[in-house]
Amino acid sequence: MKLITGNSNRPLGEAISAYLDLPLTQANIKRFSDMEVFVEIMDNIRGEDVFFIQSTSYPANDNLMELLIAMDALKRGSARRITAVIPYFGYARQDRKTGGRTPISAKLVADLITASGADRVLTMELHAGQIQGFFNIPVDNLIVAPVFVPQIKTKFAGEDLCIVSPDVGGVVRARALAKRLDSDLAIIDKRRERAGESEVMHVIGDVKGKVCLLVDDIVDSGGTLCNAAQALKDQGAKKVYAYVVHGVLSGEAVARISASPLEKLVITDSILATETMRSSPAIEVLTVAPLIGEAIRRTSEERSISALFR
Ligand code: R5P
Repeated sequence: MKLITGNSNRPLGEAISAYLDLPLTQANIKRFSDMEVFVEIMDNIRGEDVFFIQSTSYPANDNLMELLIAMDALKRGSARRITAVIPYFGYARQDRKTGGRTPISAKLVADLITASGADRVLTMELHAGQIQGFFNIPVDNLIVAPVFVPQIKTKFAGEDLCIVSPDVGGVVRARALAKRLDSDLAIIDKRRERAGESEVMHVIGDVKGKVCLLVDDIVDSGGTLCNAAQALKDQGAKKVYAYVVHGVLSGEAVARISASPLEKLVITDSILATETMRSSPAIEVLTVAPLIGEAIRRTSEERSISALFR
């Protein structure tokens, strides 16, 4: 078994390597002067079970290209089996046609990864579970509950908790977490009552006097979370926190979150945190290295991964 990390999130790759007590196989990944990507695996991988770790996060296109070219290098280096370990699968939000003459980019990216030589994919909290079906190779889609739940149980012991989905699309994820925590569930329904009028946030469920935990897969601009937090406060929530898997946090997101009614945003290290994120008291990062490391170990040993979530 060989473990290699791309450049998108080296600290996560190193943490997974430490968890598995398996040194990273070195790869020389560089750019030519015109920014073409070049990958050279620095050790023999012939006949090996290889795991290549790369989130397709910002800069999404560069990181995706690096992943594809690494797959090709591994295939041509005669690896026995190649697993693309993609903690954050970018382009996942483009999973359906949103209008006439628009792409389904998540499907295109799935095709590219398969064509480049991946035998299987190990990813985490896909925006929509159905994206697994965009691949004709096995996809393991890890859920992050084993990382969030222990902290929530300790930090909020004795509190009247309510898990909240910030939109209708996230209800399945929020319900699953509420079930594990044996807590209440609420849903925010965003509606534009009439064309030209601003969106109204309807909170479905009783949040008065409760500690609300907003749960989502992605925080990007922060708009969804901040508006949801305000709606919950308006409905009498005692405090509002957010647990979100992938901290895309583009543009002014960190400042927006710091200025919002959110007590704290907890994210994972599926995407490498910037210095602004790391230094913000409003943001806490939990590591998914042991979860991904364990899934890698089980894949290699042909053992169950779903058993991790029972
Ligand atoms: C959307 O369906 C996703 O689950 C997130 O709610 C969304 O991507 C968050 O984006 P933003 O932070 O820009 O509102």
